[in-house]
Amino acid sequence: MNIDILLGLQWGDEGKGKIVDALSPEYDIIARFQGGPNAGHSLEFNDVKHVLHLIPSGIFHAGKLNIIGNGVVIDPAVFMSEILDLGISPDELAGRLIISTRANLILPSHRILDAAYESSKGKAKIGSTLKGIGPAYTDKTGRNGLRVGDILRGDFRELYRNHLESHLSLLRSYDFSFSIEEYEKGWFEGVELLKKFRLLNTEYFVNTAASEGRKILAEGAQGTMLDVDFGSYPFVTSSNTISAGACTGLGVSPRMIGEIYGIFKAYCTRVGSGPFPTELTDSTGDRLRDTGREFGSTTGRPRRCGWLDLPALKYSIMINGVTQLFMTKADVLSGFSKIKVCTSYRVNGRDCSELPFDTDAPVVPVYSEFKGWNDDIAGIRSFKELPAELKEFILFIETETGVPVTMVSVGPDREETIFRS
Ligand code: GDP
Ligand code: IMO
Ligand code: MG
Repeated sequence: MNIDILLGLQWGDEGKGKIVDALSPEYDIIARFQGGPNAGHSLEFNDVKHVLHLIPSGIFHAGKLNIIGNGVVIDPAVFMSEILDLGISPDELAGRLIISTRANLILPSHRILDAAYESSKGKAKIGSTLKGIGPAYTDKTGRNGLRVGDILRGDFRELYRNHLESHLSLLRSYDFSFSIEEYEKGWFEGVELLKKFRLLNTEYFVNTAASEGRKILAEGAQGTMLDVDFGSYPFVTSSNTISAGACTGLGVSPRMIGEIYGIFKAYCTRVGSGPFPTELTDSTGDRLRDTGREFGSTTGRPRRCGWLDLPALKYSIMINGVTQLFMTKADVLSGFSKIKVCTSYRVNGRDCSELPFDTDAPVVPVYSEFKGWNDDIAGIRSFKELPAELKEFILFIETETGVPVTMVSVGPDREETIFRS
């Protein structure tokens, strides 16, 4: 059981990038298993913030291998700009980053289709990042996709043109103007750059590495509440963001999975549309946004903020089989005199023990209140030094969920991380 998984339990942006980076020294391989450039994973060290979209968050650790698995959808143009931004020489990077031949490609026309579909949706917009995720996964499951391995074929350009033609014919039924040429140029440069990396059937690589005793950390993108099956459909992304997605997105058996680290913020955020029972549209929400710097890592959009939602957290723990909880952004709650946690829902005047199927259901959160703490906790490095009120808050979450909180993050920097021994 050499594969551990780290994934988000809320609506994304829980701090996955920061914690994967902090955990990387414990692992030999870090592997992304789903999503694509809709993800924005931030990590900070030496006073510099990096935001990764496609590249796994272990990339800054020399000597660690990073894998982009078959479950990821790759836009070569985004891949190229990300590689150029890293500040690591492409030769060195080529030794650290392996890409699955089976990963599907996001074509320039997928991005345009994404924008056309979204603009045709009127009021029911999903709030997509418009990176082409939905159309690329649609082509994958519709068995029409182009994959990374295809870029090595002599007739790749012709294949590309065929795909483009079919997308253009779809676009003709939308009243949507666009230009593709400019993006196409960078996209084909990105395709050339991809060829400089090891393109492998990574399922063999991962299974062999695991059988040789190498430790692998599977890095999720988005969050459980954005999962295409279990999130608040249709306000979700187009992949399985849950622990099962690590098996299909890397080609490994469930029997190989060890720990499942579920990461959550001490409150909640959501970017894009869809239900958010504990959302605060008042000054408390503004304060969470300002203090937590809650603006999208990929799109810069302000994130919707609200109190911690335990029914949703428990649901995510159940779906993923979480073995350890990681809590981030505890520092953002410092200075609040009262902290609320939603412990149950009421729908149409009745207690509701399940997350409703209907995204229009009028969910009213029922809250428990906790005493806050005033101390600045960013400098704390051991669990026992945390304020008593925060420890009480954590104990409540552990008691309610039945899962231990084994990590508390108190700031964005790699060092601002407390693992509970
Ligand atoms: P991801 O998508 O799950 O990797 O999360 P993002 O990087 O999109 O968003 C998390 C944001 O919170 C980033 O700006 C991080 O630098 C920041 N962050 C992560 N952990 C903490 C923390 O414990 N405290 C504070 N204040 N910021 C954090
Ligand atoms: P990370 O990995 C937060 C949201 C979008 C939109 C919905 C569908 O950084 O946590 P898509 O682009 O997939 O068509 O968008 O999902 N979304 C995210 N929200 N963090 C993310 O990734 C997200 N990736 C997609 O805002 O509501
Ligand atoms: Mg993010």
